[in-house]
Amino acid sequence: MSPQALVFDAYGTLYDVHSVIQRCDQFWPGRGTALSQLWRTKQLEYTWQRSLMRRYAPFSQVTREALAYACQALKLPLASQQEDALMQQYLALAAYADVPDALASLRGRKAILSNGSPDMLDPLVKHSGLAFDAVLSVDAVKVFKPAPEVYQLAVDRLGVPKDAIGFVSSNCWDALGAKSFGFRVYWINRTGAPVDRLGFQPDGRLASLGDLPEVLH
Ligand code: LAC
Repeated sequence: MSPQALVFDAYGTLYDVHSVIQRCDQFWPGRGTALSQLWRTKQLEYTWQRSLMRRYAPFSQVTREALAYACQALKLPLASQQEDALMQQYLALAAYADVPDALASLRGRKAILSNGSPDMLDPLVKHSGLAFDAVLSVDAVKVFKPAPEVYQLAVDRLGVPKDAIGFVSSNCWDALGAKSFGFRVYWINRTGAPVDRLGFQPDGRLASLGDLPEVLH
């Protein structure tokens, strides 16, 4: 049975966070990949740490602080104009090449559920030209994924029972958080990574978002 609604993760699933590498390389030649990777790692760590500490801050702040940390750790001097330019770049991340066609051929309601705060997420979605029935941010519940309150937000806002929601993420920890909550989960394993050992398995494992329409219809 096809899900009544599909809910997508944003960063890493629809939008490539590493599309900032070129800009980073302009500022610090040859260091763009290392910076982008540490930036993303710290960004996620800070979300988990803040959630455990019950010290929510918007993803825009978390992302900015993770950038500052990553630059300091890699000994890359970060001027405030560079910080602003890279944060600006985050509002115009590239969608993965397989996204537009896959979304166009998927039937039913489609939504985003993301850690991104509205000040980051709304301009990003607008810039990409992709269309969704709803763009939901964890900012409404002030805790980050994979807290169950976040996945419940999709149930409440879409008015669809959890077992009728198909959740799509490339971030395995997010996919398994959604599975733990009770969604039907499709993990887009873009990098060929092993599944995380968290006691759950995704319902579907796909190499590309382009494979999703065939699995669902
Ligand atoms: C998001 C993070 C997980 O978009 O990348 O929610």
